[in-house]
Amino acid sequence: MEFDDVVRGRRSIRGFQKKPVPKALIREILELAMRAPTSLNSQPWNFYVVTGEVLDRIRKGNVERNVAGVPDSREFRMGPAYQGVHRDRQVEIAKQLFAAMGIAREDKEARMDWVLRGFRQFDAPVSIVVTYDKALHGGDIPPFDCGGVVNCLVNAAWNRGLGCVINSQGIMQSPVVRAEAGIPDDQVIQTCVAMGWPDESFPANAVVSLRKSVDEAATFLGFDD
Ligand SMILES: Cc1cc2nc3c(=O)[nH]c(=O)nc-3n(C[C@H](O)[C@H](O)[C@H](O)COP(=O)(O)O)c2cc1C
Repeated sequence: MEFDDVVRGRRSIRGFQKKPVPKALIREILELAMRAPTSLNSQPWNFYVVTGEVLDRIRKGNVERNVAGVPDSREFRMGPAYQGVHRDRQVEIAKQLFAAMGIAREDKEARMDWVLRGFRQFDAPVSIVVTYDKALHGGDIPPFDCGGVVNCLVNAAWNRGLGCVINSQGIMQSPVVRAEAGIPDDQVIQTCVAMGWPDESFPANAVVSLRKSVDEAATFLGFDD
């Protein structure tokens, strides 16, 4: 695929075929994604690629603890709840996804089912847990660098027919992820990426999220035209 087609065509995938993803293909994707630039070429990232029973135990532990009301233990600051235009965009994508899935606003059971799917990493066959070296913890640059590599990763996967969703819900109970994936104490868990072969019949996979315009986002200064 042309680069522009990959970037324009990629969307978050939340329904997957029950088909394994070859390890060699994931290695290829990681190798390409790691061409992402980083501050001072520090490359602070590490990846814990989990599948099979290990991933199933992570899903189970994440669901059980979240349902039991164990407080979120994500290893980064969440900041204030979205308000104003950011809240509007959050509601907008939720409406798009729920409309595609036929989930009515007042259908609490169906909405909870959707949340549980997120905790289960949408039953993807693979989850890539992205961490960075704890020696750098406290600065904002390592999470920024992780964002860069994750963006490359999801696009590299898309170019090979694989779908992903960056899934903050999947690492909400970080002690479970840490224990099951064997993540050492010198790593900070940033996010996870659920990955697999898209299930074309899963309605939410067709949702194309909206973007604000370049005019809204960009200020150009010093140009002649
Ligand atoms: C840091 C980050 C965390 C995310 N966490 C979740 C999540 O927990 N659950 C989910 O369904 N989508 C999650 N997403 C996916 C976003 O909802 C999605 O990228 C956004 O709505 C734009 O849609 P698109 O990826 O289809 O373009 C996350 C995305 C990012 C970048």
